[in-house]
Amino acid sequence: MSTNTEKFEFTTENLKRYQDYLNRYDDVESALLPTLHLAQEQSGWLADHVVAYISGLMNIPVIKIKEVISFYDMFYDVPVGKNIIQVCTNITCSMYGGREIYQGLLKHYNTEYLRPTHDNRFSFQKMECLGACEMAPCMRVNNDYYGPINLQSAISKIEEHQ
Ligand code: FES
Repeated sequence: MSTNTEKFEFTTENLKRYQDYLNRYDDVESALLPTLHLAQEQSGWLADHVVAYISGLMNIPVIKIKEVISFYDMFYDVPVGKNIIQVCTNITCSMYGGREIYQGLLKHYNTEYLRPTHDNRFSFQKMECLGACEMAPCMRVNNDYYGPINLQSAISKIEEHQ
């Protein structure tokens, strides 16, 4: 687990990607979202020392960056597992059992909201609409959508991910 005393800096390749983002936008703040994605991709989650690095790099106050992180579901300010499983519990998916599937997954993997499983493979997150209501009930594993799912088919799909 990372602590605030740990160091973080972009790899040479990611610094180049960051420069590409800057070239794409008129102002540095517009590049913040892709830059946070990049930092999270490299470090797994956005610990305080990662945020401090981004703040220094972009000259954006830490508090402003933290506001952005807390606003978006896709950024994590706590350690998460290697694979993120998002289960939709909004109205359409819930009518077809989305909430029960989410609770069933937490029970099956003996975990709770976002807490990594003991092997660090997974973190689970209940979500408002994933934008795939036609697949209800549905989930997203990293960038892939699955649905309609039930508890067993969800576990089978999740287990395909290391
Ligand atoms: S309500 Fe579940 S994807 Fe829209």
